[in-house]
Amino acid sequence: MKDTIILAIESSCDETAAAIVKNGREVLSNIISTQIPLHQKYGGVVPEIASRKHVESILPVIDNALKDAGVSLDEIDAVGVTYGPGLVGALLVGLTAGKSLAYAVSKPIVPVNHIEGHIAANYIEHSELEPPFICLVASGGHSHIVHVKDYQTLEILGQTRDDAAGEAFDKIARALGLGYPGGPAIDKAAKNGNPTAIKFPRVKFDHGSLDFSFSGLKTAVLNYLNQAAQKNETINIDDVSASFQKAVVDVLVDNTLEAAAREGVQKVALAGGVAANSLLREEIQERGRKKGMSVYYPSMILCTDNAAMIGCAAYYEYVAGVRAGLDLNAVPGLKIGKR
Ligand code: KG4
Ligand code: ZN
Repeated sequence: MKDTIILAIESSCDETAAAIVKNGREVLSNIISTQIPLHQKYGGVVPEIASRKHVESILPVIDNALKDAGVSLDEIDAVGVTYGPGLVGALLVGLTAGKSLAYAVSKPIVPVNHIEGHIAANYIEHSELEPPFICLVASGGHSHIVHVKDYQTLEILGQTRDDAAGEAFDKIARALGLGYPGGPAIDKAAKNGNPTAIKFPRVKFDHGSLDFSFSGLKTAVLNYLNQAAQKNETINIDDVSASFQKAVVDVLVDNTLEAAAREGVQKVALAGGVAANSLLREEIQERGRKKGMSVYYPSMILCTDNAAMIGCAAYYEYVAGVRAGLDLNAVPGLKIGKR
C-alpha cells in the first residue's frame, strides 16, 4: 500500500510546531519553536504576543520540518492543521499557513482538534495501542476523562467544572514565586518535599460524577500561604508543592481508574501537558498495573504541544475521509468529538 505522508501544523497556544508523519505513527520530523521564554516575564501567555511570534516562526518551522524529513511539499498527501480549541489569533496563524500551502500544492486540508491530537500522541510510541481505552487529558486549558471508543468516536465521561489541572499548577506556582509554566517547577520542587506535610482537599462529586474541581484546592493553598504570611511563618515551598501536587494527582488517578472500571476497559492513557508530571506518571502506572490494566503515556516531548500528535490524529481523520475547505475557520472553544 502507498505510504500516506502528512504535513502537520500546530499553533494553538505558545508553541509554533510542524511535523511530517508517515502512515499515522511514524514521525519523520517534529519541529517545535517554543515561546515560553517570551511569556515568562508576564507570568503566563499573552495572546497578542503569541500571535505575532507565530507569524514570525511559522514558515521557518514548516521549512525545517520538511527539510528534516527530507520530504518536499509535492510528496505530501495532505495538510493536517489544528483549528481549535486554543487562542483565536494563535490558531489563525497556523491555519492560514496550512490552508495556503494546501491550496498552493493542491492537497487536501484535514482539520484537527488539538485535544484529540494530545490523545493521539499515545499512538506514536505505542504501536500496539488501539482503541478502546480511557484517556485522561489534562493540560493548561482542559481536564477531561475520555472514552476513546474508536479512532472517530470519543465520549467524555468527566471534566473539570472550574480550573483545568494545568491552570491550577500554573496559578499555585505563581503564588509560590516559581514562575511560568508552573507544572514543571512544582514537579521539581515537590521532589524535595513531603506530600503529607499539609492536608489539602480532594474534591469528589456526588451521584457517581467523574468530574473534577480544582478551584477549592487552589483557594485552600492560597489561604494556607496567606495565613502563614500573616503569622510570619516561613513557608516550605517544597512541602507546599508536594502536598498540592499529591492532591491533584490523587483525584486525577482515582477518577481515571474509576472510569476504566465502570466502562470495563483494561487500558488507560495520559495526554496533555500535565501528563508530563512525574508523580502522575508513577501513580497511574503503579495503581493501574495493580488493577491489571495496561498504562500508556507519551514521552515528555509529545505530552506538551507539538505537531507530531496533530499529524497522527490527522492521519486517522484522513483515512476516514474527513476534509475541510478553504473556508475552515478557527474554533477557539472547539469541544472533544465535535466538528
Ligand atoms: O498541553 P500543553 O502544552 O498546552 C495546552 O494545551 O494547554 O499543557 C501546558 C500545561 C501547563 O499548564 C503546564 O504547567 C502543564 O501543562 N505542565 C505540567 C508539567 N509540564 C507541563 N503540569 C504538571 N507537571 C508537569 N511536569
Ligand atoms: Zn495542548
